[in-house]
Amino acid sequence: MTDFESVFDTTPTGVWAAPGRVNLIGEHTDYNDGFVLPIALPHTARVTARRRTDGLLRLYSTLGDDGVVELSVAELAPERVPGWARYPAAVVWALREAGHPVGGADLHVDSDVPSGGGLSSSAALEAAVALAYHDLHELSVSRPQLALITQRAENAFVGVPCGVMDQMASLCCTEGHALHLDTRDLTQHQIPFDPAAQGMRLLVVDTRVKHDLGDGAYADLRAGCERAATLLGLPALRDLRPDGLAAALDRLPDELRPLVRHVVSENERVRLAVKLLPAGRLDALGAVLTAGHASLRDDFGTSCPETDLVVETAVAAGARGARMTGGGFGGSVIVLVDEPDTDRVSAAIAEAFHRAGYAQPHTFPALPAAGARRLR
Ligand code: GLA
Repeated sequence: MTDFESVFDTTPTGVWAAPGRVNLIGEHTDYNDGFVLPIALPHTARVTARRRTDGLLRLYSTLGDDGVVELSVAELAPERVPGWARYPAAVVWALREAGHPVGGADLHVDSDVPSGGGLSSSAALEAAVALAYHDLHELSVSRPQLALITQRAENAFVGVPCGVMDQMASLCCTEGHALHLDTRDLTQHQIPFDPAAQGMRLLVVDTRVKHDLGDGAYADLRAGCERAATLLGLPALRDLRPDGLAAALDRLPDELRPLVRHVVSENERVRLAVKLLPAGRLDALGAVLTAGHASLRDDFGTSCPETDLVVETAVAAGARGARMTGGGFGGSVIVLVDEPDTDRVSAAIAEAFHRAGYAQPHTFPALPAAGARRLR
């Protein structure tokens, strides 16, 4: 008997999986209508599901300790659902808000995406639920549309004002590729990304410093960027090009200048990375990553001592480059390293954390994996 069967006392219709992500470059650009370059991780949220006809949404997570959470689909409303169950509930709510009259389901949730590690564990869960619901209720909605619906779920139901990168990454990434996404119109290009072919590795170092995008700092940054765009008379900061940056900064109050500097320079780093990847210039990508970290640390203010220590130590130990990835205030760092240097760089980071009195980070290789899919 499967776990689904023992929890719900019936057989499931199918199993859907959706991955977490790391972003190679393009951080805090998505809510500025800018560019991002994420890859999907092999780690996934998995939803085993069966449709119900009585309008009930029954949820069970192997990671929660609430047993089965039972909700009425018709009565779903933002902020009424506590804990992990609000993510799947949010997606069902958002599908209905988008005009898809979906009903109930039994959903069994499991995940090996580390939570709070800046690796998009919540977007992975939302994407898996959205795809399961899409198939169970025979909808005909494109992946980018599903991403927008799950982003709305997160913004309006969960209450985190995130951009669309994580949901697009989970739903649209493909194996062996980075997703070059224009977050204004969701134009996407799959860029081959295969560090092993060039004798390199991309490592993820989860500092285990838990970040929480709901705690207000992320919302403040987003609001600051939007205020700057308004003061400059632009639809979004994406519309400010590097050659107009100096003049624009002169027109802004001191506290907004570093935010704008980061967003404009970060969009340029994505442009550069997208040229380097197909040209096989991963050697040069390293410097772009490290420059991106410096910009998050010095201008945007989203790094923390632990992520800074990983970057400094990795680069000093010979890594090609490193940067914090995701929303920040903790979470994970990506490190691009020549294959033979992998153990030495990992050991240097472990040693530096030990010396600083920090808990040991969790380090693993990031292989660009597939986006959301039905498993059976
Ligand atoms: C979080 C958000 C994304 C994006 C990143 C920063 O992961 O969910 O939308 O803004 O932070 O790039």
